[in-house]
Amino acid sequence: MNRDDFPMLKNNVYYFDNGATTLKPKEVIASTVDYYENYSGNAHRGDYDISLKVDNVYENVREKVRAFINAEDASEIIFTSGATQSINMVVNGFFKHNLKKGDEVLITKAEHASLALPWFVLEKEIGIVIKYIELTNDMEVTLDNVKKSITNRTKVIALAHVTNVMGDIRPIKEISKYAHANNIYVVVDGAQSIPHIKCDVKDLDIDFLAFSAHKMLGPTGVGVLYGKYELLDKVIPTNVGGGMNTIFTSLNEYNLKGLPWRLEAGTPNIAGVIGFGSAIDYINKIGIDSISKHCAELKRYAVSKLSNLNNIDVYNPNTEGSIIAFNVRNIFSQDTAIYLNKHKICVRAGNHCAKLLKESLGINNTCRISFYLYNTKEEIDYLIKVLDNENILEESL
Ligand code: ALA
Repeated sequence: MNRDDFPMLKNNVYYFDNGATTLKPKEVIASTVDYYENYSGNAHRGDYDISLKVDNVYENVREKVRAFINAEDASEIIFTSGATQSINMVVNGFFKHNLKKGDEVLITKAEHASLALPWFVLEKEIGIVIKYIELTNDMEVTLDNVKKSITNRTKVIALAHVTNVMGDIRPIKEISKYAHANNIYVVVDGAQSIPHIKCDVKDLDIDFLAFSAHKMLGPTGVGVLYGKYELLDKVIPTNVGGGMNTIFTSLNEYNLKGLPWRLEAGTPNIAGVIGFGSAIDYINKIGIDSISKHCAELKRYAVSKLSNLNNIDVYNPNTEGSIIAFNVRNIFSQDTAIYLNKHKICVRAGNHCAKLLKESLGINNTCRISFYLYNTKEEIDYLIKVLDNENILEESL
């Protein structure tokens, strides 16, 4: 990995907010610019060379995504604007029509708003019941706790694969096996996992998976909804328009295309999808397992260095994801983030869109460090040097 591949790093920043979004390598930027400069046509529309090239490149990225998560068929890959849209499509396009009043959906208090809120809305609309799987003292999910939450009304288990604050990796394979034996659907938010760990949707037996390109070196505004074909085929489009119908008449009759196009109404984010393809190529070149190993090593290193400071509380020293939630003792997390910013260090502070977690964790706000493949131990050493200061509060002002 060459840090020179990432133009942003030339700006003398210490970027530790990869859980929010990642930096983009030159290849991603170049392929996006190449599209705009050299073959800027629409997809699935034209009969001229430029448009046909767009089709080829766009559909080739779909195949790259399929291979990346080992889906059975490229038609199971829907391009969306991001994980949030993907989850909303599943909840409103599938579960709204396949659940009924009293059916139970299991989530946890560690979920991101994008996985929790669509169910909250559905609860109001059709009367489903949302239940919370109990978390361990380390805020983790165990199969035993999942089993304890299941009743004969449970129809869905919806979980992040890796959580965005604690960074724990959920035992999705075991959960899916148990869920499917009990006719329960499994919906997974892969926003924090797909960029970091090998995710094989067939091996994990996931029914629906959502993730975003921008957290894995790709452009913002692009995401993926994966679904098993037989389920995805039953998703009713929540967005209708051009490119997804075969015919419509003045008698108001219409026919929709098959997957994947039926769920991609309108002009898609072509440049974004093309950049996403380059991001996948970049990750494949490094190897997802090497990325996992590198980030895990950085986390171990940072946790051990932080534990040498006597002013820091780390809330998740042992989770496997490359995220560290911490506070400088007696200092509001945002003040710490402002102080770090003065030293060109980027971290996220607050509740990180996981607003229920405080009920279980007992802490309202944290600072969050999240690593990716370009972070180094030298950067961590600098962070530690900056945090090793008794005057953080005064210097944040
Ligand atoms: N979901 C992103 C995060 O956790 C924005 O920071």
